[in-house]
Amino acid sequence: MAERHFHHDVFGLAALSWNESKSNDKIMIERDDGLVYADRVSHYFPDDSFEFKGYREGLLKYIQSPVLDIGCGPGRYAYNLWKKRFSVMGIDISRRVLQICSDLSSGEIPVVQMSINRLGLAAGHFRTILAMGHNIGAVGDLIGLHKLLGELHCLCSSDAKILLTSVDVTQIPDATYRAYFLNNKLRNRYIGQETMRLRYGNHFGEWFNWLFAAPDDMESIANRQGWTVEEFAINAKSPEKYAMVLGKL
Ligand SMILES: C[S@@+](CC[C@H](N)C(=O)[O-])C[C@H]1O[C@@H](n2cnc3c(N)ncnc32)[C@H](O)[C@@H]1O
Repeated sequence: MAERHFHHDVFGLAALSWNESKSNDKIMIERDDGLVYADRVSHYFPDDSFEFKGYREGLLKYIQSPVLDIGCGPGRYAYNLWKKRFSVMGIDISRRVLQICSDLSSGEIPVVQMSINRLGLAAGHFRTILAMGHNIGAVGDLIGLHKLLGELHCLCSSDAKILLTSVDVTQIPDATYRAYFLNNKLRNRYIGQETMRLRYGNHFGEWFNWLFAAPDDMESIANRQGWTVEEFAINAKSPEKYAMVLGKL
């Protein structure tokens, strides 16, 4: 059996490797109940056919500069918005993905290594916050979601929008996959919480929590932090996935 190595930035390692060699884009996700499933890191790279895939293209109409992409990854959204002449800044916890995002734009997309759980940005400036790819889930739990939405309220202008995607775990069609979330109640956890770690080749990351807030919970927490739901869309191909646009109350 191959030796296992701990790596603090497995996603960044996979992204960098894919960017350089295009040979292995398979990243494995191991859940704390033992289930292992695959994702493709290439999926998070920009391509030529930008759209808010699976959702109404109308979401694009909510985007105004300056845009802050929280957890931008290699730049699937940031790069394409920059190409469309939006002013966009990316933050991510991984310096590797930020380097890729910056390089793709020849250094024109400003990027800052920062956790969405420890934002350190000046108040009052951004008009659009992007949390695509279910990235708002990096808050880990409902308390983190309260904190982030409250902080984003301060970071944004009065006409700002937050565009986010997430999953309603009660609508997941695969019963085995859904059962994990239903079991969260027995574990005294919020239903939409997932504990996992990433693996790329023989590199393993730390265990972490990801939050999938149900649409009603997302809305009520957003309301308490000064946001209102302006649009809600269900993904036509995967009805458990949703997009939400929040504006200031
Ligand atoms: C699944 S990718 C999504 C990237 C992008 N939002 C997209 O939709 O293509 C998740 C990204 O979130 C970043 N990330 C994970 N936890 C984070 C945190 N606490 N703060 C900021 N970024 C984080 C990862 O490094 C990774 O680049």
